[in-house]
Amino acid sequence: MHAYRMLIDGEWVEARSGRTFEVMNPATAEPMATVPDAGAEDVDRAVKAGRRAFDGGWRDATAQERGRVLLRLADTVRREAQRLATLETLNSGKPLAESEFDVNDAATCFEYYGGLATKLHGEVLPVPDNALSMALKEPVGVAAQIIPWNYPLLMAAWKLAPAICAGCSMVIKPAEQTPVTLLELARFFEECGLPKGVVNVVTGFGETAGAPLVAHPQVDKIAFTGSVDVGKSVMRAAAETLKKISLELGGKSPNIFFADADFEAAVDGALFGVFVNQGEVCSAGSRVLVQKPIYKKMLDAMVEKAKRIKLGPGTDSSTKMGPLVSKAQMERVLRYQEIGKREAKVATGGGRPSDAGLQRGYFVEPTIFYDVDNSATIAREEIFGPVMSVIPFEDEADALRIANDTPYGLAAAVWSRDIFKCLRMVKKLQAGIVWVNHMQPTYVEAPWGGYKMSGIGRELGPWGAEEYLQVKQVYINLNEQPIGWY
Ligand code: NAI
Ligand code: MG
Repeated sequence: MHAYRMLIDGEWVEARSGRTFEVMNPATAEPMATVPDAGAEDVDRAVKAGRRAFDGGWRDATAQERGRVLLRLADTVRREAQRLATLETLNSGKPLAESEFDVNDAATCFEYYGGLATKLHGEVLPVPDNALSMALKEPVGVAAQIIPWNYPLLMAAWKLAPAICAGCSMVIKPAEQTPVTLLELARFFEECGLPKGVVNVVTGFGETAGAPLVAHPQVDKIAFTGSVDVGKSVMRAAAETLKKISLELGGKSPNIFFADADFEAAVDGALFGVFVNQGEVCSAGSRVLVQKPIYKKMLDAMVEKAKRIKLGPGTDSSTKMGPLVSKAQMERVLRYQEIGKREAKVATGGGRPSDAGLQRGYFVEPTIFYDVDNSATIAREEIFGPVMSVIPFEDEADALRIANDTPYGLAAAVWSRDIFKCLRMVKKLQAGIVWVNHMQPTYVEAPWGGYKMSGIGRELGPWGAEEYLQVKQVYINLNEQPIGWY
């Protein structure tokens, strides 16, 4: 069992308190590592290191230098891919094939921002005077980055890469459940050319390390991904010193199937939309809206396929669904399943699998509830597990009404062979991401973020870098005479 330290100011350190905690393998419910249990004083040390690194030179690093650092990080992730993917699976539970996908995506994210670093530029504005008016882009300063446990390395890459690209320094806190892959990547920061203190990794719990980090007066920007409740507390903490914020808070995304959709693709797309990554996906298509003429047939076909999803440890190559990340998350999902049984009908699943081999880990059966009313708890609250709520609808208007009747607005998908119908839906769906005849593909080139209570701001693409930049307006008077007013 590896005893990790955390990275502050280029040094591998313990928490000042000396406390550590165990990180679990969710497939076996056994500890796989220990990490420092950081508190407010460790966070303070990390933020001050970030501040010194920023003010002491990193803010003046050239765009080319920052770009090269990112390209080296990308190469490192690719070189270490197999090791990182295996560790990601051991720590998060997800099937190895999915970890491999994530690790590749993380490398691609570093590459993208490595290329973007030299393309971020300001503008010259046509003001009506003998002058030059410019808008310059500058890094905001020290960023606090709070990472969730569902895509540990990938979500870290989504936050590290644009911040380095923009020229910020940062303190990043992985989720307490899944710190391993980020700590492994951090071993290479120095050889990738990151000066000490530019990226600090602090391990700890939300209340004791996350809260002091977001409240720290020397932090200029917070990037958070996680639950709505914590998102709100982050926003409150940011108010005190008016920090810039971006929040990605998940959802209850509708996956909408019209009767004229390709049937095979529909069945597959509905299952993939909600069961990939054990359903621990912010954009999970957890509300499956099916038009009445195909409702019964599609439900039967989904159930038949869902029953054959192979549960097991993510390290087994035959596994299609791993355990949930933690005992707490398993219990949360099981609670929702009990609520669902009172609110709707169970078509398959609904609890823990009975296989003897799956009793120790945090496994939950892929579950399909049907005849769900959109007002039910299981149609309104984010479950973050392999639980699908199937809801029938009549026509386009009905589908739109149900789809948009949610406090969330992260993602939506619509399936039909009628492109006019698809485009009418695209225009009216209240979501930051809308897929047509697919659900979940995500690309670093394209913006990611939510409407309504799914968040604030956008990650990825140039939008992701903008979150770490601020604009300075510069006016240069080209007249050499006095103003002549007084
Ligand atoms: P959480 O929101 O508590 O944890 C996410 C991150 O925030 C972790 O790094 C955690 O340490 C940190 N955190 C927790 N409390 C904090 C605080 N007061 N100040 C600063 N940072 C804090 O999520 P949790 O409790 O692990 O999961 C509960 C539910 O949240 C899930 O069932 C799911 O619905 C949602 N969630 C959504 C995610 C998304 O991708 N949008 C990711 C993780 C959870
Ligand atoms: Mg929490």
